[in-house]
Amino acid sequence: MSRDAQKKLAAEKALEFVEDGMIVGVGTGSTVAFFIDGLAAMKDRIEGAVSSSEQSTRQLQSHGIEVLDLNAVGPLKLYVDGADECDPYNRLIKGGGAALTREKIIAQASDRFVCIIDAAKQVEHLGAFPVPVEVVPMARSLVARAIAKLDGQPIWREGVVTDNGNWILDVHNWRIADPVGLEAKLNQIPGVVTCGLFAARGADEVIIGDQIRPLRRP
Ligand code: 5RP
Repeated sequence: MSRDAQKKLAAEKALEFVEDGMIVGVGTGSTVAFFIDGLAAMKDRIEGAVSSSEQSTRQLQSHGIEVLDLNAVGPLKLYVDGADECDPYNRLIKGGGAALTREKIIAQASDRFVCIIDAAKQVEHLGAFPVPVEVVPMARSLVARAIAKLDGQPIWREGVVTDNGNWILDVHNWRIADPVGLEAKLNQIPGVVTCGLFAARGADEVIIGDQIRPLRRP
């Protein structure tokens, strides 16, 4: 089965988590785009969505789904998003689409984070996919030097400006033994807005194709 077919199946399975009257947290990316299309078919059953990017907002609104401000609606019951890598403990690398900061905020604000991926994104250890780090522009070099001291190789994603007006460093060549510890270290570097490690708050459920993958406990 093609990767796109797997993404579509996972997105359709995630629709089963949507309950009547819900405000649904919505991620960003090509897998989520299938989810938004599916959500459109049941838009009269939900109250609206909280969006993690301008891109998803446009797609939601094009379907007539109301996009609400997270501050106005409080904690969410459900957040659905994709990922770039997922380990057996549901820890993730995200941010390939540069939407990591708003994605992490909504994940944190949600009771349940359902992650939808294709099988190629499953890994035993995170790190083959470069870890995106969103930085305040003036801190790019400072953060890059700090990351080099942590044995990462940061490469500036030149030309990309996030929805928050910031820049992205993609960190290559990290074999990540302790994702929770590394996430905490990155978050402490002045100028880092968010890193794309979703380890302290990983996914609650991971759907691959039409299957909910069993979680391995550390
Ligand atoms: C965007 C993300 C996406 O969830 C991630 O990049 C996966 O995207 P896709 O579904 O297109 O493979 O984190 O910032």
